[in-house]
Order: sequence, then structure tokens, then C-alpha cells
Amino acid sequence: MDWLQAVLISAVLAASCTASNRTFPPGFKFGAASSSYQIEGGWNATDKGESIWDRFVHDDPTRIPNNENGDVACDSYNNWERDIEMAVELRLHFYRFSLSWSRILPTGFNNRISEDGVRYYNNLIDGLLARGIEPFVTLFHWDLPQPVQELSGWTNPLIADWFAEYARVVYTLFGDRVKMWLTFNEPIVVCDGAYNTGIIAPGILNPEIAPYVCNKILLMAHAKAWRIYDEEFRPKYHGKVGLTNMWVWIEPAADEYKDLAELALQNFGGRYSHAIFSKEGGWPPGIEEVMAENSLKRGYSKSQFPAFTEEEKDLVRGTYDFCGLNHYISRLIRKAKEGETFTAFPLGDVEDLDGIMLLPDGREVGTSYWDVVYPVGMRRLLVWLKEQYGDIEYVITENGYPTGAGLEDTSRVNYYKDYLEQVLLAINEDGVNVTHYTTWSLMDSFEWVDGYSHKFGLYEVDFTDPKRTRTPRQSAYYYASVIAQHSLDV
Ligand code: NOJ
Repeated sequence: MDWLQAVLISAVLAASCTASNRTFPPGFKFGAASSSYQIEGGWNATDKGESIWDRFVHDDPTRIPNNENGDVACDSYNNWERDIEMAVELRLHFYRFSLSWSRILPTGFNNRISEDGVRYYNNLIDGLLARGIEPFVTLFHWDLPQPVQELSGWTNPLIADWFAEYARVVYTLFGDRVKMWLTFNEPIVVCDGAYNTGIIAPGILNPEIAPYVCNKILLMAHAKAWRIYDEEFRPKYHGKVGLTNMWVWIEPAADEYKDLAELALQNFGGRYSHAIFSKEGGWPPGIEEVMAENSLKRGYSKSQFPAFTEEEKDLVRGTYDFCGLNHYISRLIRKAKEGETFTAFPLGDVEDLDGIMLLPDGREVGTSYWDVVYPVGMRRLLVWLKEQYGDIEYVITENGYPTGAGLEDTSRVNYYKDYLEQVLLAINEDGVNVTHYTTWSLMDSFEWVDGYSHKFGLYEVDFTDPKRTRTPRQSAYYYASVIAQHSLDV
């Protein structure tokens, strides 16, 4: 009996017990995620164009520990059949992956479509569907075509139309079979992460105004891509398009910091959500002042600050079919004391709020982003989102935990158990309409500036093996049982 059969037998046994409040609603879907640059490899296969991540890691290999890069990664370019098999073993309802813009449009523009790129994604999509697994596709997971970067990337307003054209190309190619789309994955990393720190591709440090300019242009790009789907493709394909943000749940370290915590939530997730999901549109409450003040402090005038016109607000507002969220961690926040040095939150913008981040247990933030597990943050975040944006569909597009090497990943199993429990509470007790849950990640992969040392996979990948063999971890068996039983009683 193989492990998949064992999971199925335990599911049949469980099905004979009555449904409990540890059972997920009928129709609730479970999936796992990955992204193109992190898994595909084949960075220059056939006519694929160069992306900013290719350029970033090749220009200066020391940017990533041990000179690692995504040139081969999990070699999913060649191993896509094994990837589908893993999704089948887990009994996933959907597999979330991203398209490499440069693999489809080698120049970044729609003058040339790569046959090889299209074939690759057609194989993956058709292979998933043949096994009953829905493809859930992200259009942009950070690997911008280098030629588009050379025209100033996300700080050039014209990119909104270039991105929308790329979206039209992929809706045309794959829209008959792909019904769930995300335009952007974690825009905060594309804008704030990149320009505030300079340690993420394209490696340009320009914290003064670039993150805000990029922020607004990216929202416009999303809106245009959503509207193209809505007008030209929805009538025949009936799919859904959303955007997903990184949401760190932030609580006040003491009652007096309640407003600060609220402002921090708006500054991290709200800046990329409010314009789309709120009734008013535009920048979130309180943030425009913070942004304007910071730009002024840094020597910019108010006129350079990227405000939304009423027309632009209307263009962006309401451009969603669901609200995606990537959630991993929580933090506390308090006001900085006189002369106190700011804790570098990974994206480098707590300073804007004059705030200090702490771990949820009150300790100082260490060097690791992943220090403390705080499952209740998931439920509180979902409730907060519902209060902000209303009773809309919420899709958890990522949740996960990194471990070291090895197959016995008990800490990750516990993480999933505890977080899934909070998702259920949000659904059952708080009435949040959560419809999908996605683990990050299907397999170990290239973890950006951390290289291959952080392992998020349900499947371990042997990066020393040219075949990049994948082996299920304890967490894969656990997750497969949850899916098979549609319940946490496993
Ligand atoms: C968010 C990103 O979408 C993904 O690319 C990354 O690997 C995970 N978080 C883990 O850091």
C-alpha cells in the first residue's frame, strides 16, 4: 500500500464520522503554490528573454548567499510532469503557479510570442486539468522582463499598458482553461521591498519617492488588466481575477498604540488594497499625510507626490472578484523613543511611521523574519479585512513556514494545524467568506535573497541531484490527510 492509498483509506473512515466544527465548508478548496523564477530554471531555454532576476543574480553573484541563483532551481522547466504528480499525490484541488512574462514574451512586449513558452504552460495547464486539478495562475511574481526594466520598469507610467497587453495575451492563450487569476503577487515587495532596500531585483535603492510612484502605477496596471478580463474575456470564460497582498498582522504593543497599529496595517497592506477593495478608493486613510510628509522630509515637494485623480480612483476601485492574502507572521508595534534606532522591518518602512516592531511575545525582532508563530494573527487579520473591505470573497493564496533540511518537519505540521484551526474559526465563528487555502510551498525552491537555505516545501528537493528529485515530507502526508478528509480531525 503506498502512502496515497493510506491517506484515502483514512479519509473513508473519517467520512463515516459526523461532520464537526473542525470540518471545512463544502466547496472549500485546498491548494499549494510556487512561482516561476523560484522553481522553473531553464532561465535561457530556447528563446526565453532575460528577466530582472536573471540579470540581478548574474551581474553580481555574491548578492545571494553561496552565489546561489534560479538558473536551474527545481528544474520545473523539465520536471513539470513530476510537479503535477505531486499535486495529485496531495489531492490538491488547485495548484497556484506563476507565468514567467519573459518566457511568454521574450522581449517583454507583444511583438513576439514564444512558442516554447506557450507550449510549456499549455503542458502544465492541460496536465493539471487532465488529473482534475485546477490551474490558479499569477501573472506577475516579481520576474519582470529586463527590457521593460530598462525603460524604468514599475516607475514608468506606460508600464500599466504594457502589463495590460501582456495580460490580454495570456488571457487569450490560456483563458479557456484557467478560471482563477491573480494579477500581482505581493506588490509591496515589488515597490517598497525593491526600492527601499535595494537588495531585491532590480537592485535600485531609491527610497525617497520610487516606492510610492511604483505603488500607484502598479495599482493602475492591475486595474487595466482586470478591466480587460472583465470586458473581453469574462463573458465567454466566466473566470475570476484578483490581486494578492502580503499581510503582516500588526497589533499595538499597548493600548496607547492602537492608532499606530491601524496606520501600520494601512501602510503595509492597505496601500496596495484600499484603492481596489474599499468603497472610497484611493490611498488608505491617514497614509496620504504620512507619505506626503515623508516625501517632504526627503526633499521632495508635495506636487511630486503621486496622488490619485478622481478618474484614476474610479478606474481602480472595485477591480476585483476576490481578495487574495499571503499571510505568515504577526508583529506588535509601539512608538519609537527619543533617539531609538529603528528596527529594520524587512521592507524598511516602519521608519515612516516612527514605529518600532516587536515580536508578538514582546521580544525584540531578531535577524529572522520567521521568529515567532502566532496563529491567532490569521483569524484577527481575516476579521479586520472583512471590517475594512466588507463581506467579499477572501482567498488565502499563501501560508507557510520554513525549516531546515530533512523530512521530519514536525514544526511545519504544527504550524499548518494551528493556522488552519484559526482559518476555520474565522469562517465558522466570525463569518468570513474564506473559500481557498494555499500552502507555500509545493516544494523547496529558490527563496530570493535567502537562496536555498530556507525550505518551505511540502516536498523536499535535492538540489545536489541533477534530476532535482522531490520527496514528500511529514507535512505532505499531514496536508494530504486534511484535504482527503476535508477536516482537521486527522
Ligand atoms: C511570499 C512570496 O510570494 C514567495 O515568493 C516567498 O517565497 C514566500 N513568501 C516565502 O517567503
